[in-house]
Amino acid sequence: MKPEPQPSSAGMPPAPYSRRDFVTLASGCLLCAAVPRARAATDKPVDIGEIKDWPKDAISEKFIQYDFFVIRHKGRLFASTAICPHKANYLLLDPQNPDRIICSGHDSTFTPEGIPTGGPARRGLVRYGISVNAGGRVTVDTSREFPQAQWDDKASYVPVK
Ligand code: FES
Repeated sequence: MKPEPQPSSAGMPPAPYSRRDFVTLASGCLLCAAVPRARAATDKPVDIGEIKDWPKDAISEKFIQYDFFVIRHKGRLFASTAICPHKANYLLLDPQNPDRIICSGHDSTFTPEGIPTGGPARRGLVRYGISVNAGGRVTVDTSREFPQAQWDDKASYVPVK
């Protein structure tokens, strides 16, 4: 959720950007600035299509507006947070390496599984609840979180062949 703008001490109007917006824009990260990242307001599961819509191993930013990646990797389809576990900056697919996730804040890197491989982040990426409904649709439930120790929980991934 975007924080409320705060009035300045000099009686000026509230700043139009949050601290995060300012840091992102000031960092010159054009990719970050170009992608609308305000989380879509929904408490409902997010429909990400059918299993056949995810035919090969990849990290997808297709649902990044909900602050998660959809990742197919080694026989599993799952949704990983796109918010960094270090200091909550936005994560992105590395434009130089489609098998790597990078942080827009302090350059932490992560494998497709969500394991940190560099930078200050030490925790793996939380995954969200995911399931296939009776109609064959895959849905992601961001109200259910699975830290790294629970990545083998069957509610945190959908098996794929
Ligand atoms: S917020 Fe991601 S590395 Fe610091």
